[in-house]
Amino acid sequence: MNINGYTRTCGLIGNPVEHTMSPAIHNTLAQAMGENLVYVPFRVQKDGLLAAIEGAYALNLQGLNITVPYKSQVIPCLKEIDPLARLIGAVNTLVYTEGGYKGYNTDMPGLYRAMCEDGVGMEGENILILGAGGAARAVAILAAKKGAGQIILFNRTLEKANKVAEEVNAMEGKALVRALTLEDYGTLPKGEKYLAIQATNVGMFPDVEKAVIEEEEFYKRVHTGYDLIFNPAETLFMKRVRENGGKAFGGLKMLLYQGIIAYELWTGRQVDEILAQKAYSKMKKAMGIR
Ligand code: ATR
Repeated sequence: MNINGYTRTCGLIGNPVEHTMSPAIHNTLAQAMGENLVYVPFRVQKDGLLAAIEGAYALNLQGLNITVPYKSQVIPCLKEIDPLARLIGAVNTLVYTEGGYKGYNTDMPGLYRAMCEDGVGMEGENILILGAGGAARAVAILAAKKGAGQIILFNRTLEKANKVAEEVNAMEGKALVRALTLEDYGTLPKGEKYLAIQATNVGMFPDVEKAVIEEEEFYKRVHTGYDLIFNPAETLFMKRVRENGGKAFGGLKMLLYQGIIAYELWTGRQVDEILAQKAYSKMKKAMGIR
């Protein structure tokens, strides 16, 4: 790579950032597309977020990704925010604009693009979402916006699921989302099959032997399962879905496409599927997956 006076810099702000896969995605894309752009991680301490964003802007950084724990905290530092990111309440991508950064959420569009790639649709689908935290709430909003049929949230803490359901129903102006506890899956009609999206952190490395719902009975009702977790590559949730005849997908492709969508926002260029696959292979290699 030839770094010169025209090189544009993008980067990741978070804490920690040491295990990020984003440099592998963006530097692969930039190199393959002949874009004079480099992507670097920046670890930012919690009292340094505003200074980091202002500093990045002053240094003319073209774009930033924002990760844990700053996806909501960054919102007051922005000049403008995309409507979907505002609804979700989390921003993971900043784009340089006149007067300040504009914030986007590419996590949910990334999930959607991964699903399209996998041939899985949301429109008219009855969807089960496991969890009611920030990620699950974002998935519920995405599903609502993509015209899902019925959405059922399962969560350990029912009040949290109720709150998310109320919020999304208020956004949509109709009773689209229902909240249940994890044990309540038995109330789903037998014989009916659902798309299930696993949006809790249960089953994430190193707790790979766990799933938020472990009973086979639940998985008999799932035709397709998505786990937002990408490490391990096959979670117990995915394994159970497959064992019961369903198709299962992990979070790595969502991670790829959230990066690709961010890259497209920064450069104004479209990433084709061949290149997307190349970046995906790099990520899998970085994770030790064949
Ligand atoms: P994120 O922003 O990644 O969504 P979060 O907001 O902390 O993270 O949400 C974590 C989700 O995982 C919640 O739905 C949480 O359930 P509660 O709302 O009951 O806390 C769920 N979760 C985490 N650990 C869990 C466990 N051991 N059993 C069941 N659910 C769990």
